[in-house]
Amino acid sequence: MKYGIIGAMNEEIERMKTEMTVKKTHRYASVTFYEGTMHGKGMILCKCGVGKVNAAMTSQLLIDKFATTHILFTGVAGAVDETLNVGDLVISTSAMQHDIDVTALGFKKGQIPYFEGSSDFQADKSLIEIATAVAKESTNRHILQGRIVSGDQFISNQDYVETLREDFDAACVEMEGAAVAQVASMNEVPFVIIRSMSDKANGEASMSFNEFTELASEQSHLLVSNILKHT
Ligand code: ADE
Repeated sequence: MKYGIIGAMNEEIERMKTEMTVKKTHRYASVTFYEGTMHGKGMILCKCGVGKVNAAMTSQLLIDKFATTHILFTGVAGAVDETLNVGDLVISTSAMQHDIDVTALGFKKGQIPYFEGSSDFQADKSLIEIATAVAKESTNRHILQGRIVSGDQFISNQDYVETLREDFDAACVEMEGAAVAQVASMNEVPFVIIRSMSDKANGEASMSFNEFTELASEQSHLLVSNILKHT
């Protein structure tokens, strides 16, 4: 078992870096990869940067250069499901791109045209179970399993939140998960995405995002650490 662990931002990986034993640092395509262990488990930690292109490229590098057997993505997201508040957690059951739109040619919203298989990429069942069990032990926040939707936009618009709920039955929205999910799935590598809610993707999202990113990142770190401890 060799875990690839990805965060989009510095806050999301710095804490994990202090807990892991780094044996070697690598650099490919302007991304730094920290190879080492945490709780005796092999892992590669990296910051992919924001957005789907960064996330896709980094995921493929984790698989090709390091032969990672499992991919975990942690970070923050905007809440879409009405039961979620800032600080709550979403564990992905699947992930989809909300901003791919070829409806003009008759495809469904979020559907990748001429693509073999579903555009709703399924997370690994045992990783979902482990992440949920660990989350329940680590926090008394609300934990929701659901679909994560990703796009290259920071959403701060209540109307769009409602569209995401109606069109995708989304639990939360962020900017990387579906890209990681697609690459992992196409390579048959099991994955799960764990997101802490930093905001509600509405008019107050940018203020809330800045205020809660630190807290949410702390939570992500605790979860990844406990997942590695328990697997
Ligand atoms: N990540 C955290 N909050 C977000 C939002 N509102 N939209 C997109 N990505 C996010």
